[in-house]
Amino acid sequence: MKRTHHCAQLTAADVGRKVSLLGWVDSIRDHGGILFVDLRDREGITQLLFDPTGNPGPAEKAAALKPESVIEIEGEVVARPAETVNRNLGTGAIEVDCTALVIHNLAETPPFPIDDTLGEKVNEDLRLTYRYLDLRRPRLRRIFKLRHRATKVIRDYFDEEGFYEIETPILFKSTPEGAREYLVPSRLQPGHFYALAQSPQQFKQILMVGGMERYYQLARCFRDEDLRADRQPEFTQLDLEISFIDRDGLYALIEGLMARLWKDVLGVELALPFPRLAFKDAMNRFGSDKPDTRFGLELEDFTADFRESGFKVFRAAAESGGAVKALVAPGLADITQGELNHLTETAKSLGAKGLAFIKIEGGEWKSPIVKFFSEAEKAALSERLGLKDGDLVFFAADAWERACTILGRIRLESAALLRKRGRLEIPSGRYDFLWVVDFPLMTYDEEQGRYVASHHPFTAPVPEDVPLLDSDPKSVRGQHYDLVLNGTELGGGSIRIHQADIQKKIFEEVLKIPPEVVETRFGYLLRAFRYGCPPHGGIAFGLDRIMALLTDSASIRDVIAFPKTQKGQCLMTQSPGPVTAKQLKDVHLTPLATG
Ligand code: AMO
Ligand code: AMP
Repeated sequence: MKRTHHCAQLTAADVGRKVSLLGWVDSIRDHGGILFVDLRDREGITQLLFDPTGNPGPAEKAAALKPESVIEIEGEVVARPAETVNRNLGTGAIEVDCTALVIHNLAETPPFPIDDTLGEKVNEDLRLTYRYLDLRRPRLRRIFKLRHRATKVIRDYFDEEGFYEIETPILFKSTPEGAREYLVPSRLQPGHFYALAQSPQQFKQILMVGGMERYYQLARCFRDEDLRADRQPEFTQLDLEISFIDRDGLYALIEGLMARLWKDVLGVELALPFPRLAFKDAMNRFGSDKPDTRFGLELEDFTADFRESGFKVFRAAAESGGAVKALVAPGLADITQGELNHLTETAKSLGAKGLAFIKIEGGEWKSPIVKFFSEAEKAALSERLGLKDGDLVFFAADAWERACTILGRIRLESAALLRKRGRLEIPSGRYDFLWVVDFPLMTYDEEQGRYVASHHPFTAPVPEDVPLLDSDPKSVRGQHYDLVLNGTELGGGSIRIHQADIQKKIFEEVLKIPPEVVETRFGYLLRAFRYGCPPHGGIAFGLDRIMALLTDSASIRDVIAFPKTQKGQCLMTQSPGPVTAKQLKDVHLTPLATG
C-alpha cells in the first residue's frame, strides 16, 4: 500500500501535489452531495473532499462510508476557500480532492464516539470492553506516544551510564514477606507451584553477585492486591541495581534520570538536587510518608501543651506516649455538615475515635470541646496556629503514627475542599519531587505479634544503628529511600545487606522466620552471599505511575494499553476465565465441587 504522507503533514505549501493517504474516517459531512470526510491516522487529521461533479466514481463510493471505516485515497492537495480555513488544525489550510477511494474495512457504528470530550464521559467498563476503539482517542494516542518516548529516554540514559538490560524470570517461587502472589501450578512437579514474580528483587541482587555491576530492566511485576487508581495486578517497574554504590551516588543517578525524562518528554527543567525529608519529619509535618508538598497546611504538635489538660481525650493520648496533632484549614469554617461528617468518617476509617474540631467564626471558637480547654491551652493554640476568623482547626489524639496519618488524610481532603472553593491553588505543571529517607528498618505488626520489614527484608540497616538490632529493633533505621512526586510514591529502594550472617540474623532473629523456612525460601540467596558478594543497592519505580504523572492522568489504567478493572478482570478478553477439568487434571488440581 502506498502512503505518501501522514494525516498531520500537508500544508498550503503542498497545494497541487498528488498524494495518497490511509486511515480511519473520523467524521463525514454532506453538503448537498459534496462530501467532506475527516481522515484520521495516528498523527492527526486531514480533510478529504469527494465532489460528484469533478470525480463521480470515488464520490459515489464515498456515499456508503461510515465513521471508523478504514480507507485509502488518492487525490490532489487543494487550498481551502479562505472562509473555511481551520486555524486550529495544522492541516487546516488545505483539503485533498479525492480521485480514487479504496474501502479496506467498512465499520459498524461504534458503541461510543471516538472523541476526547465525549469519550471521557463514557462509562469506563464500556471503554475497556472496546479498548481498541478507546485507544483511537487523541488523548490515548498521545499517552502511548509519550510512553514510548519515555522508555526510549530511559534506555538511552542507562546505556550511557554503563548499565546492562537483563531479563529475569517471571515464573519464580513463592517467598514470604511480600505482597500476595499469583500461583501457577506445575505440571511436571506435581503439587508444586511457581509464583509470578512480584518484582525482580532477588534476581537483581544475584546479578550483582554474578558480577554484572549495573543492571536495569523494564520488568513486569505481578501482585494479587486490592486494586486502586494507582495499583494494577500486573504493572511495569523500571528496576535497577548497582554494585559499589552508596545512597548519595544513587540519588544523583536517579535525579539525572528524572531531569532527563522531564526535559525530553515535557520540556520541563527540574531543579536538582531533590530535597530530602526524614520519615519522621514527613509524618510530623505532613502526616504521610509520601507528602504532597505543593501546598502548606502543615500539622502542628501540641502533645506537650495538653499533657495536663482537663480534656481527657487529649491528656490520655499525651500521657500514654501518643501525640496530639492539630491542622488548620484556613478559611474553611464554612464547611458544610455533610463535608464534616464525611471527614469524620474518613478519620474513623483510619482508626480515629473521633475528629475534634474548632470553627473560628465572628471572633468566637465554636466547638464541642473548647469548654474543656484552659486559657493557657487556648493561648498556645491561638498563637502557634496563627488563628484567624473563618479558620477551621482539626485535632487527632492517638498513638503518634496514627494521629499523624489521620490528620495527613484530613489535610489532603481539606486541601480538596479549599480548592473546590477557589481558596487554594495548585499550579498545574508544578512537580514537587522529594526523597523520603531514614525509615525505620522494621515496624511491629500487632496482628502477627512480630516485627516485619518496613520495605523488604534485604534492606541494610544504617551502620551506626546495627548494635540496636538486638536491644531496640524499632529504633534501627534502614538504608531505604522512596522517591515521591506530588504526593505519589514513584519508587522505592535501598542499600542491601551483602553479608550472609547479617541477612540470616534479620530473617531468623529479628523477623522470626523459622530457620527451615529461611533455608527453603532463601537458602540460595544466603549461599550466594558467601561467594563474594559486592556491596550493592538499587531502586524500582512504577513506570505506570511515572507515566500517569507525565501525562496528567488520574489513573494508571489510562497509561496501560490493556489494564484490568478493580475486580482484576480484562473486560475485552473476558479474563480470567474458566478452564476444563482436563486442564486442571494436567496440573494435578481437582475441580471445585459444584452445586
Ligand atoms: P516496591 O514494592 O516499593 O519495591 O515497588 C516499587 C514501585 O513499584 C510501583 N508499584 C506499583 N505500581 C502499580 N501497581 C502496583 N500494584 C504496584 N506496586 C508497586 C510503585 C512502587 O514505588 N523490589 C523493590 C524495589 C527495590 O528495593 O529495589 C520493590 O518492588 O511505584
Ligand atoms: P468525646 O468526649 O469522646 O465525646 O469527644 C469529644 C470530641 O472529640 C468529639 O468531637 C470527638 O469526635 C472528638 N474526639 C474523640 N476522640 C478523639 C481523638 N482521639 N482525636 C481527636 N478527636 C477526638
